[in-house]
Amino acid sequence: MTQKLPTSIDETLNLLAQSSYVADRSLATVLYLSLKMQRPLFLEGEAGVGKTEIAKVLAEGLDRPLIRLQCYEGLDISSAVYEWNYAAQMVDIRMREASGDTNRDAMEDGVFSERFLIRRPIMQALQQVDGRAPVLLIDELDRTDEAFEAFLLEILSDFQVTIPELGTIKAAEPPIVIITTNRTREIHDALKRRCLYHWVDYPDAERELEIVKLKVPGADAQLSREIVEYVQKLRTMELFKNPGIAETLDWATALIELDKVALDPQTVSDTLGVILKYQDDIAAIQSSKGAEILKEIKSEARSQGAVAGAAAPGV
Ligand SMILES: Nc1ncnc2c1ncn2[C@@H]1O[C@H](COP(=O)(O)OP(=O)(O)OP(=O)(O)O)[C@@H](O)[C@H]1O
Ligand SMILES: [Mg+2]
Repeated sequence: MTQKLPTSIDETLNLLAQSSYVADRSLATVLYLSLKMQRPLFLEGEAGVGKTEIAKVLAEGLDRPLIRLQCYEGLDISSAVYEWNYAAQMVDIRMREASGDTNRDAMEDGVFSERFLIRRPIMQALQQVDGRAPVLLIDELDRTDEAFEAFLLEILSDFQVTIPELGTIKAAEPPIVIITTNRTREIHDALKRRCLYHWVDYPDAERELEIVKLKVPGADAQLSREIVEYVQKLRTMELFKNPGIAETLDWATALIELDKVALDPQTVSDTLGVILKYQDDIAAIQSSKGAEILKEIKSEARSQGAVAGAAAPGV
């Protein structure tokens, strides 16, 4: 059974939460509206902040197939939309010739029919599967070139593709479209205008801790809190590349593997490669800065503990 679309922002938050996605209200609002208004959702943000995951949890939560188009430089229509099955067309022509059927118009009509069309992700997304329109994820659109972007305009506004030899193929029900970009280049306004836009930001400490608890349940409570606070502080420094949520989760998993229940200077220094991927950043943190962050976290934890202890009755 297809899940029906959420009818409120709260229901949208629940839908995401059911698939372990911790969203803030602004994301749930724009997602709710994009579903309601049948408009593509354009998600921009730093790496590893949960953009791609939104499409995955939507497909899971709404019980719809996920069709993913991973963008790259040079992506063209034959890989993204459709191409003709030349080999099968040739066989068909030979068979017709062999049977004496040489009517040119009939041959052309036969060869350029849907039977010989190879549907790539965008065309697939226009078709329902078991009566359900799919979720189409156009991932990392900034990696393609502008010509491809221009081609997407027709699809995103009318949910249709025009094939010169065949005509226009329109979706019976529009797919749910999620577009992501890492902002390595600006996407054209014409495309953005067809979408609802949301900047996916790094989460605050509270939300990130919730994500760690959900995604890495085996992590000790103190360790999880320290990891989140450490990563949050790293993001305020002028690093070349900030760690995303993906790195926070990787770090928690790595430290469990090492049987750690709290951060210590040596462990942090030895495992920085899990959260930072540039040597300059690692070197900067391995210097005195890393130790300072750890000291701050530990002293903040002590003062919070003291406040909590003073507030607790009978302690
Ligand atoms: N709000 C969230 N709730 C739960 N998990 C999250 C959340 N945000 C991110 N994650 C987790 O973080 C990881 C990275 O997310 P994702 O791959 O979607 O990031 P991204 O923004 O698409 O990154 P990139 O730009 O590098 O492709 C995933 O494992 C995902 O489960
Ligand atoms: Mg992604």
